[in-house]
Amino acid sequence: MKCLVTGGAGFIASHIVDRLIEEGNKVVVVDDFSTGNKDNLNPKAKLYEMDICDPNLEAVFQSEKPDYVSHHAGQVSVVRSVREPEFDVKVNIIGSLNVLQQSLKYSVKKIIFSSTGGTVYGEPEYLPVDEDHPTRPLCPYAIDKLTFEKYLYMYGVVYGLNYTILRYSNVYGPRQDPHGEAGVVAIFTQKMIDGVQPTIFGDGTATRDYVYIDDVVSANMLAFEHGDRGIYNISTGIETDVNTIFALLKAEFGFPKDAIYSDKRPGELQRIALSYEKAKSELGWSPKVTFKEGIKKTVKYYAR
Ligand SMILES: NC(=O)c1ccc[n+]([C@@H]2O[C@H](COP(=O)([O-])OP(=O)(O)OC[C@H]3O[C@@H](n4cnc5c(N)ncnc54)[C@H](O)[C@@H]3O)[C@@H](O)[C@H]2O)c1
Repeated sequence: MKCLVTGGAGFIASHIVDRLIEEGNKVVVVDDFSTGNKDNLNPKAKLYEMDICDPNLEAVFQSEKPDYVSHHAGQVSVVRSVREPEFDVKVNIIGSLNVLQQSLKYSVKKIIFSSTGGTVYGEPEYLPVDEDHPTRPLCPYAIDKLTFEKYLYMYGVVYGLNYTILRYSNVYGPRQDPHGEAGVVAIFTQKMIDGVQPTIFGDGTATRDYVYIDDVVSANMLAFEHGDRGIYNISTGIETDVNTIFALLKAEFGFPKDAIYSDKRPGELQRIALSYEKAKSELGWSPKVTFKEGIKKTVKYYAR
């Protein structure tokens, strides 16, 4: 099969590209390298260096005629979405709509969309949060991701388009940008390698559900075949707080200093963990890598 992967030079989608190619598929990547990196990109993938908002995206669909679309390109920072909500709308809604329109026009078999379980639900009423939990987003990034989910639903009902929505919790692992505003494991790891004290926003008791990149790739591979028009949390169901991550990495590196504490950032939740029961029963997916194993693999990559 041929798969068009948007954002294929980024952290998550570059690993998906690798797996698709490993399994003998053809891959076309659309990426504008705004946060992606040429080093991440598999040389066997065909690259179109392009913004997903660009009207020329149609020409890519027209000449490539992909069977599937894996949509991962986007504005990925919660903090930036709070600061520049219009920009988030432009990329995450208008750009995504461009991908959707072309997918419909060129009869793509399915779109797999990378949504966000970590932010669409808002502050949870119960834990772990399942897919039936109310969605009460507290940042523009989550509002825009959720809006695009609704477009997928609408295009499914009205035009018969097929899709699977994967709501990732906090993904971590090799290739995550350690210089961005998100991705605490990568950021702390790089700081410790550089001998710089990491900053913890808030008191460090805020929890997240950390899922390792290889498990996220497996979920994507299963979604090509299963989960038609479904929404699935891709997560571990386990809460880990920031102080614990700091302590684990400190021990891993023998880092001599403590963290610096600073004010909590707007738009960020206090607690979250997501149930993956639905993905387990309908996609046949469950996470395999424990946080301790994942941290070791990640540290090995950055320290290489
Ligand atoms: N990392 C996480 O924990 C996480 C959690 C939930 C959802 N997601 C979603 O997964 C997707 C991938 O995230 P990531 O962590 O790999 O981030 P990333 O920044 O590493 O990857 C995003 C990729 O998209 C590209 N891109 C950005 N804007 C573009 C545009 N307008 N046109 C073309 N390409 C563009 C970037 O250059 C980059 O290669 C995003 O949609 C993100 O919202 C990530």
